[in-house]
Amino acid sequence: MIMDASRPLLQGKGITKRFGGLTALSGVDFHVERGEILGLIGPNGSGKTTLFNVISGLLRPEEGRLSFHGRDITNLAPHKRARLGIGRTFQIVRPLATMTVAQNVATAVLYGREGIAGFREAEERAHYILSFTGLSEKADRLPSELGLGERKRLEIARALALHPEIILLDEVFAGLNPAEISQAIDLTFRIKEAFGATIFMIEHVMKAVMGTCSRIIVLNFGTKIAEGSPREVASHPEVISAYLGAAYAGN
Ligand SMILES: Nc1ncnc2c1ncn2[C@@H]1O[C@H](COP(=O)(O)OP(=O)(O)O)[C@@H](O)[C@H]1O
Ligand SMILES: [Mg+2]
Repeated sequence: MIMDASRPLLQGKGITKRFGGLTALSGVDFHVERGEILGLIGPNGSGKTTLFNVISGLLRPEEGRLSFHGRDITNLAPHKRARLGIGRTFQIVRPLATMTVAQNVATAVLYGREGIAGFREAEERAHYILSFTGLSEKADRLPSELGLGERKRLEIARALALHPEIILLDEVFAGLNPAEISQAIDLTFRIKEAFGATIFMIEHVMKAVMGTCSRIIVLNFGTKIAEGSPREVASHPEVISAYLGAAYAGN
């Protein structure tokens, strides 16, 4: 693909997604720059996961265009987007239940951007990714045998297996204890460094968002209400009333 450094890595214009009478996304414009850690926040039901579903191709928007490296991908199938380098995790983790942790990751490698086709090579790559995500000791376990923090890391490992250029992380910190959150923040930075990946993350855990993101987009009822640095969005009046609440505004 032809690279154009002047274009955002990923761009959405006027993205609208409806479910029957419900408008989950309403004319959302966004862009993701190469190498940034971009946050997506907003109250429950504000359309965050829907936006990731539109980006990864699971859902088609009724209106709007999506481009990657300046190429229109609005109508591209999900597996083709994965091959182009758009990887994601799912808020509800969805490993292949009858496969071991290592097989889950190796299978994902075979669908990835690197074009690895041999199973032996895929297994080697999978073992590197398992060690990177701290899952080596669980390689031969079934996903059901993992704790929540480990299952979240398996989701990240499966997304990394595609060798994505951009990785969409959907609430990978949810339900973790403070020590696990610190580990997950560290993992986020390591993903950016070791894989050279751009990160777009949905996160409720404010410590994680404020500590990792260089820029944040805020959705409310499917509309983008703010965008800026963590400091800017945290002090934005509409964000405070919509999302952070009166308690936060007092800080
Ligand atoms: N597949 C779907 N079918 C119908 N409604 C949906 C579907 N996915 C999401 N929604 C609705 O769209 C709105 C946004 O959902 P979602 O994007 O999951 O929010 P968030 O991730 O911000 O919590 C919610 O009202 C949700 O119930
Ligand atoms: Mg969600």
